[in-house]
Amino acid sequence: MSGVSRRELMVGALAAAGGMALVAPSVAVGADEVATLGATAATHGLLFGSCSRGLLEHGRDGSPVLAADRDYRALFTRECRLMVSELELKMPALRPTPTRWDFRAADLLARLAADNGMAYRGHCLLWHESTPGWVASTVDASSAEAFVNEHVGRVCDRMRGRMHSWDVVNEAIDVQEGTADGLRKSLFLKLLGPRYMDIAFRAAHQADPQAMLCLNDYGIEYDHPYHEARRQALLGTVRRLLDARVPIHAIGIQAHLHAGLRPFSAAVLARFLADIRALGLKVIISELDVPDYRLPADAATRDTATARELRQFLDVALAEPAVVAVVCWGLSDRYSWLNSFAETTRRDGLPARGHPWDDQLRPKALHRELLAALQAAPGRS
Ligand code: G3I
Repeated sequence: MSGVSRRELMVGALAAAGGMALVAPSVAVGADEVATLGATAATHGLLFGSCSRGLLEHGRDGSPVLAADRDYRALFTRECRLMVSELELKMPALRPTPTRWDFRAADLLARLAADNGMAYRGHCLLWHESTPGWVASTVDASSAEAFVNEHVGRVCDRMRGRMHSWDVVNEAIDVQEGTADGLRKSLFLKLLGPRYMDIAFRAAHQADPQAMLCLNDYGIEYDHPYHEARRQALLGTVRRLLDARVPIHAIGIQAHLHAGLRPFSAAVLARFLADIRALGLKVIISELDVPDYRLPADAATRDTATARELRQFLDVALAEPAVVAVVCWGLSDRYSWLNSFAETTRRDGLPARGHPWDDQLRPKALHRELLAALQAAPGRS
């Protein structure tokens, strides 16, 4: 039972016995024991985790505290070996005003991760959708480089020694903007050109040489001309960064697998992953979930379809030795971003079922297929 502690198995078994459907054991265990996703991933040299949604809430004085939902926290700490901050390390959370920094929530998550043997993944240092309004109104072309160096350097220095990895730049690609290199016309691209990425990655590496530095993006998973254009733009950007000797270590593939939206090709995904490996980079499946807004209302139908969508993707992804981690963007339908966004919200008003556990913290077919994909994954060092 290498890499799987007896405690983890027993905790899993107790949870499974508490009314949750048992799932197929993944390692040589007793008939009444169930391995966790984190332990199963670890036996194959992979990290499994999820984002922090549902773990914190605001106390009476407005300060961040551990959420009252102890059942969800117990599920999270049982199943995950990695935690990624959903909001707490984004610029709006850290810098609510030009003069105020607030690391309380990030520190609380870092402590929760450390106390439970979890790696902590930082998301995200620069992202066009989480750049506070005051930045656009105070930073110009003459001050942009100093701002990026100061923000990235201070955050990475403050968190140094506690971070597994950072999404240094998130969602840099937008081939519909018409730029030659397919880069999104974000504030920092406009102010600094593509070298804003070089500046950010260098500042992050200087402040925390141990952290794995990632470029994270979406819309690169399927067999579709739009996704192919995005993949090529991403690879071109990575080649330019590597040619400039920028310290970039991994690509984050968000893997929001919109069920029924686009065709999937194992060969196309496998080739993309191999292209990333050929550049010497690792891959993190960084925001895995299955938006089900295009599927019929029936829960059983949705659960079968989302499980199949996830499994076909993961079987290919986990066959790639460069893939080092699988991170869900939420473990349970109880806390799902999918119901907060127009694009992923179902028109029939039914809550999304895009995560491994349902809103009662019972494992679904998604969990079964996620566990099975991890069990089938080739080992890696
Ligand atoms: O907590 C406040 C609440 O007090 C307020 O009443 C409410 C209405 O303004 O906003 C709440 O904060 C929201 C927060 O989610 C918590 O729900 C923010 O407005 C909202 O912008 C924020 O959205 C997050 C989004 O990133 C932007 O940061 C989502 O939860 C989060 O899941 C999403 O995650 C992104 C990744 O970072 C990048 N990849 C795509 C992924 C999904 O969009």
